[in-house]
Amino acid sequence: MMNELETLYTLRPQLVQLPKIHDPRGNLTFVQSGKEVPFAIRRAYWIYDVPAGEERGGHSHREMAQLLVAVGGSFNVNISDGHNWRTYTLNRPFEGLFIPPGIWRTLDNFSSGAVCLSLVSNDYTEDDYIRDYEKFRAEAISRKPRI
Ligand code: TYD
Repeated sequence: MMNELETLYTLRPQLVQLPKIHDPRGNLTFVQSGKEVPFAIRRAYWIYDVPAGEERGGHSHREMAQLLVAVGGSFNVNISDGHNWRTYTLNRPFEGLFIPPGIWRTLDNFSSGAVCLSLVSNDYTEDDYIRDYEKFRAEAISRKPRI
């Protein structure tokens, strides 16, 4: 039997369509632990007021899984599994990018007013981060490609 973390390491990064309740008064979107995302949401944070040309991220996580949503504006998420790279443009409040642990990410190309909501599985701890790409790659290359 695989434990929860091992299972997360088998999953691929992917776009997730979130429920959208159309309403003439304005639309509404929601996300539920264990339904639209395969983890329990433990923490939320958001990135905003990003100056033009700046980059965020630049790390991977050992255990943390997350869902990124452009709740306003747009930005790019560049991800690597140590084998391959892929870029997603997020620009819809009803679409999330699921990122399992063991994936490198950088965020760039933020539009003016963009807000990146991040829903994540773990409490914040610096111990969960790998912030050196070569160190990440050396570990990740021994795992199967997921991108
Ligand atoms: P970091 O995760 O590196 O930012 P990015 O979204 O660009 O990857 O976090 C930046 C700083 O904020 C870092 O010093 C840790 C701090 N931080 C917290 O204290 N709590 C949190 O929940 C998060 C996400 C970051």
